[in-house]
Amino acid sequence: MPVTSQKLRDWKQVGRPIAVLTAWDYAIARLLDAAGTDVILVGDSLAMVALGYATTLPVSLEAMLHHTAAVARGVRQALVVCDLPFLSYQESPAQAIQSAGRALKEAGAQAVKLEGGSPAILETIAKLVAIGIPVMGHVGLTPQSVHQLGYRQQGRDDMAAARILAEAIAIADAGAFSIVLEHIPATLAATITAKLPIPTIGIGAGPHCDGQVLVTADILGLADKPPPFARVYTDLRGSIEQAAQQFIADVRDRTFPPSG
Ligand code: KIV
Repeated sequence: MPVTSQKLRDWKQVGRPIAVLTAWDYAIARLLDAAGTDVILVGDSLAMVALGYATTLPVSLEAMLHHTAAVARGVRQALVVCDLPFLSYQESPAQAIQSAGRALKEAGAQAVKLEGGSPAILETIAKLVAIGIPVMGHVGLTPQSVHQLGYRQQGRDDMAAARILAEAIAIADAGAFSIVLEHIPATLAATITAKLPIPTIGIGAGPHCDGQVLVTADILGLADKPPPFARVYTDLRGSIEQAAQQFIADVRDRTFPPSG
């Protein structure tokens, strides 16, 4: 049975942890889906891991839709969430409706994710939800604000922690079906998780969230410098380099293709 946003809320109630991974193309999405990933996020981190940009800011809505459509074609079970990129939703709720609508209508996503918890973003979330677009929130370290926040852990002092908690509660009240908590102290993530009726998905936010997300390039060992909170499960970079070197050697010494 395909995963739905309602199912994620049910899983929080019964304490069933939610596994989320990012994907940027059909091949990766198919494998992650077949492995049983609950939610596949077409994160704007693809700007960095697949397109070679230094931050997530340059990726366009068109590029996100292109990659989301490829991912959606590879997925049978997981919930596909499209990250709305920088400046595709912050201008106005009308702009967000256009962008999110295209993610569902043209690219085949089942939900969108957007960053932040300002009053303007809360209004946008409420309007998207009102027209039937499921929204995943994202607070703590929000990479689209890298030029304000850097990549530092957020919510370290009492005031910052109280602000993130208030934002998370307001995002749930606005109708989001889940929320990413990125790079905040584990104690703060535990408090938010206990207070919210919707599932929290942590990344660098400790073990007490309802689910966990990692960037797939990091778990596969493809990233130049994975963040300290990522776990690298395999060395795909080494395997790819080795396979390419072996192919090059086989071509040069004419052992590939085999004769006869
Ligand atoms: O873009 C992304 O991959 C994300 C995750 C890190 C949550 O937003």
